[in-house]
Amino acid sequence: MNKHLASLLRSNDVAHSLAITTSSKTCVTFVMINVTTWFIMLLLCPCQLRAQFGTTPNIKHIVVGRCYNYITLIDPSLRYDCEEIWRQFEEAVVRQSSCNVTVEDYHQVFYAMPQTWPCDKFLFWSKTRALMYSYAAVVRDFWTLEDTLVGFMFNDLIWCGQDEDPGFDFSSCPQWSACRNHPVYSLWRQASQKFAEMACGNITVLLNGSIVNAFNRKSMFGSVELDSLNPQRVDYVNIKVVTNLEGPYIESCSQGSVVDLIQILQSRGFHWTCTDNEQTLMILQCIQDPKQPSCQTCANSLSHRKSLTSD
Ligand SMILES: *[C@@H]1O[C@H](CO)[C@@H](O)[C@H](O)[C@H]1NC(C)=O
Ligand SMILES: *[C@@H]1O[C@H](CO)[C@@H](O)[C@H](O)[C@H]1NC(C)=O
Ligand SMILES: *[C@@H]1O[C@H](CO)[C@@H](O)[C@H](O)[C@H]1NC(C)=O
Repeated sequence: MNKHLASLLRSNDVAHSLAITTSSKTCVTFVMINVTTWFIMLLLCPCQLRAQFGTTPNIKHIVVGRCYNYITLIDPSLRYDCEEIWRQFEEAVVRQSSCNVTVEDYHQVFYAMPQTWPCDKFLFWSKTRALMYSYAAVVRDFWTLEDTLVGFMFNDLIWCGQDEDPGFDFSSCPQWSACRNHPVYSLWRQASQKFAEMACGNITVLLNGSIVNAFNRKSMFGSVELDSLNPQRVDYVNIKVVTNLEGPYIESCSQGSVVDLIQILQSRGFHWTCTDNEQTLMILQCIQDPKQPSCQTCANSLSHRKSLTSD
């Protein structure tokens, strides 16, 4: 689903790698000046570091390995051909120019792994990636895109093709925003759309109230998933707006872009609820940062309890 945070991180990575590349001239000058440091400079030379921003090394082993992990340990009821899924993936990406992989190019990949889920578990999120992971881990019932086979296999990976051998470009890949048909973006777009189309029963949407445009029409949720939700299949869209513990408190159920989201839902005939700063979500944040003043009530009552026990 919402890979925008990941995408942002990735764009930063790419920008960073570009910056490093331009500074490699300086690196060369240094080598000329001081021969003794030459070997060290070679080891540290950013020209090699750049490789980490191309296709993820060992991508085939990672993807096929994750696939076997999923069908063997996570959901043994699934009967998928992991090698075939990889073959279809390669077909779509390998030897393509790095900006030329469309959603349609991945159709065979998705065809090789149809998957359905029980209702009432779908969790969508936007700009709340870290919190979403702990929320989904605590409220065990949730399904996110990262729990689907395709999401599980490709999470956090980067890839793009090139004409020459080995068919993947391991040295650099373009930013998501650099091209319309980015191979990584197209896959997540298709995965997000399928995930949303399948959503049924009560679904949950986790939005970030500490930023402007918590609901962003350009995000994966706003541009793909929302439009793919089916009011006939979905009973309730339960929106949860959550701010950082220390603020800022920019958007809420009655303020900012969340209001636009509610209007869109209403006009398309969805039932909805909206909750600001649900307790579970705040407590989860407090666990990670207990010293925050807003967590003190909880901490105080805990230390109180502790002193009672030691009396
Ligand atoms: C992009 O892909 C299409 C179909 O796969 C192909 O016909 C076209 O030549 C490709 N363009 C580039 C620039 O590689
Ligand atoms: C909201 O977004 C900001 C900026 O991306 C991020 O630092 C923060 O962790 C997010 N807050 C929550 C509750 O996810
Ligand atoms: C679905 O959400 C509505 C509104 O929050 C709630 O009243 C209902 O009990 C929920 N149903 C299930 C099955 O969770």
